[in-house]
Amino acid sequence: MFSDSEIQKFRSLKTPFYYYDMGLLQETLDEVKTHGLSKGYHVHYAIKANFNFEILELIKEAGLGIDCVSGKEIERALEAGFDPEQIAFAGVGKTDDEIKTGLDADIFSFNCESLQEIEVLNSLAAETGKVANVSVRLNPNVEAKTHKYITTGLTENKFGVNPENLPELFIKLPDYKYINLTGIHFHIGSQIRDLQPYIDLCKKVNMIQDMFERNEIYLTHVNVGGGYGVNYEDPDGEPIPDFESFFNVFDEHLKLRDNQQVHFELGRSIVGQSGNLISKVLFIKEGITTNFAIIDAGMTELIRPALYQASHHVDVLTSTKPEKTYDVVGPICESSDTFRNGISLPEIERGDLVAIRTSGAYGEVMSSGFNLREKVPAYYSDEI
Ligand code: LLP
Repeated sequence: MFSDSEIQKFRSLKTPFYYYDMGLLQETLDEVKTHGLSKGYHVHYAIKANFNFEILELIKEAGLGIDCVSGKEIERALEAGFDPEQIAFAGVGKTDDEIKTGLDADIFSFNCESLQEIEVLNSLAAETGKVANVSVRLNPNVEAKTHKYITTGLTENKFGVNPENLPELFIKLPDYKYINLTGIHFHIGSQIRDLQPYIDLCKKVNMIQDMFERNEIYLTHVNVGGGYGVNYEDPDGEPIPDFESFFNVFDEHLKLRDNQQVHFELGRSIVGQSGNLISKVLFIKEGITTNFAIIDAGMTELIRPALYQASHHVDVLTSTKPEKTYDVVGPICESSDTFRNGISLPEIERGDLVAIRTSGAYGEVMSSGFNLREKVPAYYSDEI
């Protein structure tokens, strides 16, 4: 995966750091273009996954829009040069200030997650004299078959309006003079590797569209969210997710009305495989049942293993010795600060470099200053 010259360069840099493969990001975007944009689909990149300007630049060049979940994310997208008409704004708890940021920017759509939010948006829009475009985020009660912390489309989850509450919206809608209801929005969860949940989602979307039609509401677009997963076990075997199969599901199963657009909000599947966390081995400690490889990156740089029991592939970059069994752990004072348990790796010594793979999404953006750790730098393959 890494060339000798890259590893040579890594040796001269202070660790830990994030390293982004911009060639792979470009190839991934090309696949999204070939299988998604070419069908007329609109793809908003979920900026929460990684908001580095270098990464946003390639994504913007590829013609994607942005999906935001905070006012600061809207500001970031605008600063990166994205067209407000390609910005969608979701989130269950938008503050008045954040709503005003979206109104000021004339964004494409507020993805509203409760009836009260729509009412508040109507009043705030009235103050500005603007009419806000709204998509109602609906909770389709579809099982995404992923970790429960990143499941969002079940009745028990806090996200979206239950379809049972739509009749109330249909009654109130004519009173909302500053709301233009243009679409419906869904997002059932993240790291979804099986396509069946998306087929189930399409069936629910079709039923819900019928409800709108019965109420004579024409929707210009349907936003089916993101959530498509990546291969954490074998990043070199599957560096780019199978976007052809993904987009085909919607092609086959969504029943669209005339001139209706389909929107997606993909985060992890776009940037996940392009990022790596490069770290140095500080100490080797022989344990009773395993050997601990204690590295200088921790849950402060990549919280996914500690938070979601996620398993990221680990490569040793500087050893080709026979394998031994290791627990790869960080330096933070938490037992959950463990990247992998009991894995076979070439024998490691103090000073060896390791790469924690598939760290491009929800890695750097979720970093923290716990233990007063400093933010670590990012490097890009086209710069070093
Ligand atoms: N749209 C909405 C409304 C979302 O909430 C999300 C992610 C996305 C799109 C993009 O989902 P993606 O395509 O990246 O799966 N920190 C967790 C993931 C949290 C995802 C939150 N919402 C993790 O590291 O697994």
